[in-house]
Amino acid sequence: MSTITIIGNGNMARGIATRALAAGRTVEILGRDAANARALAADLGATSGTTGQAPAGDIVVLALPFDAAKSVVTGYGQALAGKTVVDITNPVNFETFDSLVVAPGSSAAEEIAALTPASVVKAFNTTFAGTLVAGETGGQPLDVFIAGDDADATAAVASLVSDGGMRPLAVGALKRSRELEGFQFLVMTLQANPAFETFNWNTGLKIID
Ligand SMILES: NC(=O)c1ccc[n+]([C@@H]2O[C@H](COP(=O)([O-])OP(=O)(O)OC[C@H]3O[C@@H](n4cnc5c(N)ncnc54)[C@H](OP(=O)(O)O)[C@@H]3O)[C@@H](O)[C@H]2O)c1
Repeated sequence: MSTITIIGNGNMARGIATRALAAGRTVEILGRDAANARALAADLGATSGTTGQAPAGDIVVLALPFDAAKSVVTGYGQALAGKTVVDITNPVNFETFDSLVVAPGSSAAEEIAALTPASVVKAFNTTFAGTLVAGETGGQPLDVFIAGDDADATAAVASLVSDGGMRPLAVGALKRSRELEGFQFLVMTLQANPAFETFNWNTGLKIID
């Protein structure tokens, strides 16, 4: 069974750590502020350390803004070789809230993959943090869309997702991240749109069958 390191100690770190612990995984949380990481880890029943120390987990989740995720994987260099790195970012231009910051025909996940020897998998970018803590939304289990080029890495993330009580949907190669990031940008704009009064960063993107 894979072990998990989460880098970052914010909202998504809490959500993913909650689901990973529910899945029976060992979880390590690394933060740039040791006290913040320790506080989250103590709250949930994980271990903690600081960003920059070698990650213990086989799966390393970047629960960071896109720019920070790029700089953290660059800083780790070869220390991530052989690991699965999960990119959860939504590379939205928050100044305009009108586009992504990655070029058309690319994605945050592909940009991150170009910076690390790790196997990069896109996952969790379409699940809002509060729904991960709750493990559901609208009374329904969460769908987690997963894209990756390495079958073993993708399968390890899918196993974490299903053991955590969610439904993994492996959508194909890492380049499918382009669609996952584009679509979640659309979903994010709906949360901020006053026409949709009940959307409050609590919705879920789900395939109904
Ligand atoms: N929130 C959601 O519902 C949601 C859903 C899907 C995907 N995402 C994506 O998930 C990622 C994290 O979002 P979040 O909501 O968890 O954000 P957040 O609550 O603001 O947490 C961000 C974390 O990143 C750390 N950080 C920021 N800059 C850093 C740097 N340069 N070096 C090291 N650590 C740094 C922060 O550290 P400090 O605590 O020390 O400030 C914090 O722990 C983002 O890419 C976002 O697009 C979010």
